[in-house]
Amino acid sequence: MPEELPEAEPAFRKQPVSFVRRSGRMSEAQDRAWAELAPQYLFDVPRDVASTSVHPDARLVPAEVYGREAPLTVEIGSGQGHAIVSAATAHPERDFLAVEVFRAGLARTMLDADRAGARNLRLVEANAPEVLETLLPEGSADEVWVFFPDPWHKSRHNKRRLVKEGFGALAGRALRDGGVLRLATDWEDYALQMREVLDGAPEFERAFDGASDPDQASDPDGDWAPRFEGRVMTAFERKGLNKGRDIRDLTYRRVPRG
Ligand SMILES: C[S@@+](CC[C@H](N)C(=O)[O-])C[C@H]1O[C@@H](n2cnc3c(N)ncnc32)[C@H](O)[C@@H]1O
Repeated sequence: MPEELPEAEPAFRKQPVSFVRRSGRMSEAQDRAWAELAPQYLFDVPRDVASTSVHPDARLVPAEVYGREAPLTVEIGSGQGHAIVSAATAHPERDFLAVEVFRAGLARTMLDADRAGARNLRLVEANAPEVLETLLPEGSADEVWVFFPDPWHKSRHNKRRLVKEGFGALAGRALRDGGVLRLATDWEDYALQMREVLDGAPEFERAFDGASDPDQASDPDGDWAPRFEGRVMTAFERKGLNKGRDIRDLTYRRVPRG
């Protein structure tokens, strides 16, 4: 495992970031992937001050980047890219954007995307809240995914969680009316926090209701969404399961803007 170093808390960021930047070196294959595949896959983000920041004037215009108009799925914290490469390959009629700060994960994502021949995928190396807040045009995303975000389970670290007060406004800005926000976690208290934050966000309504869904016989109160069929098993889910933790999915719909 690469050594993990907290990114210096820069004075110019108003909020603590939800990640630690890893100092681990990239493998030769990952270095090569970066050099050869970045021109095809990586959107070059104009920076503000930090290396993972987004310049407030920078915009990613999907029609220009993908060369067409198609529904866009944005995955926040895509890790090694397993879910998004699989989805991009299975759905050539849609476009996909992976948002991640972990370089080796981005390199792996590009290698797998290239092997799979996925041309409908782009990657952004940046702090996700800034991508949702300014880089993406308002209402440009059809779906936003957040699978197994870093749990920051010690209470003194809870403030670093990605899905906290204010996240509804960020995701709701990027999503089109009727667009879908999908989340999953293996940490019960984080699942409860996600649900509290999003139940309270005026931008969203629940898109799950166990009472009317026969697949949710085990959850008749509809406390959680059924597993999203497009979510592939990743090491993070497997680790949670191995430790005996339940996996909880949540699905919310962007309510129409006023
Ligand atoms: C626990 S991993 C889960 C990865 C993947 N979703 C999966 O299920 O395998 C969380 C990932 O989110 C990334 N991440 C955390 N905060 C982020 C942020 N603010 N912006 C972009 N990526 C972030 C981390 O670098 C890490 O790769």
